[in-house]
Amino acid sequence: MPDRAVWLNGRLVRGHDAALSVFDRGARDGGAILETLRVYAGRPFAWQRHMERMVLSAAELGFPVPPSPARLRAAVDEVLAAEGLGDAVVRITVTRGIPGGRPVRTSAWVEAEPLGGRLWVGTRTRHPADGGPAGARAILSLTPFAPGLLGRHKTTSRLAYDLAREEARAAGADEALLVSPAGEVLEGAASNLFVVGGGEVVTPPLTADVLPGVTRAIAIGLCAELGIPLREAAVPLEMLRRAEAAFVTNSVQEVLPLASVAGRATPGRTIALRLLAAYRERVAAD
Ligand SMILES: Cc1ncc(COP(=O)(O)O)c(C=O)c1O
Repeated sequence: MPDRAVWLNGRLVRGHDAALSVFDRGARDGGAILETLRVYAGRPFAWQRHMERMVLSAAELGFPVPPSPARLRAAVDEVLAAEGLGDAVVRITVTRGIPGGRPVRTSAWVEAEPLGGRLWVGTRTRHPADGGPAGARAILSLTPFAPGLLGRHKTTSRLAYDLAREEARAAGADEALLVSPAGEVLEGAASNLFVVGGGEVVTPPLTADVLPGVTRAIAIGLCAELGIPLREAAVPLEMLRRAEAAFVTNSVQEVLPLASVAGRATPGRTIALRLLAAYRERVAAD
C-alpha cells in the first residue's frame, strides 16, 4: 500500500486511512471525474483550465457541487508540502458521493507523485541529434473504440483506456491510438493526437467525443500564434499511414513527437518541437 499523503475530504491521511466508502458512487459505478496536472517547481500549470473542465463535467454529469477550486488549490499545496515535492504530477478526483443524503456531497481527494516515475520512455529519453524528447512509439489499438458521450469527460470509468494502454505496454510502446469502428483515429489512450501532412496539422474535432485535452487546447492556440496551419477534422487511418509526422499532447508528457506509429517511422519533429518550445515558454511565464 502506498504510504504517501493524500488530502481526502479536508484532511491529510495516509495508508489505510486513504479510503473511500463502498457506498460512494465513485467506488461502485465509476461515478467520478478526475484531473491530472503537471506541477513545475511547486506550481500546477494551467490550473484554471483544469478547474473549468472539471466543474463543467461535474455540472453536465449531474454531480453534487465539488469543493471550490480555491479549496482544491490549497489542498494541492498541502499535499506537495507533506510529500516535499516540487516537480510532480497531481491527481484530483471528485466522486458523485453517497446517494440518499440531503444534500448529497461529493468525495474529493488530492494526491501527488514525483514527476520522474510518470514520464514515458519517449518523453524522458533524449534525441541524439537535438536533445529534445526522443519521441514515443505508438501502436494502433486492436479494439475498435466508440467513446460516446463520456469520451468528452475525464471520468474514472477508464477500463477501456487502460486496456489499450496495456496493449501498448505489451508491445513495448508508450501509447495506444484509439480507432473508431469507422476507421477514424480518435486520440491516444491518455493523449490527444495531431498529424502533420501537406503543410498542415490535423487533429480530430471534439465532436468525435475525444477528451477536450487541456494541452490540446493550448497547442491549438500556439499553432495560431506561430502561424502553423491547423484544421480540426477526422483523421482516417489512411491519413495517419501517409502522415509525415505525428505528435500527441498530454499535461504530463507535454507536446511529444511520435517516433513511430504501428511500426512505421514518423521521424518528422520540426512542428512538434516548435510547439514544445512555445509550450515551455508558456509554462515559464505562467
Ligand atoms: C483519453 C485522453 N485523451 C487526452 C488526454 C490529454 O488531456 P490533457 O491534455 O488535459 O492532459 C488524456 C489525459 O489523460 C486522456 O486520458
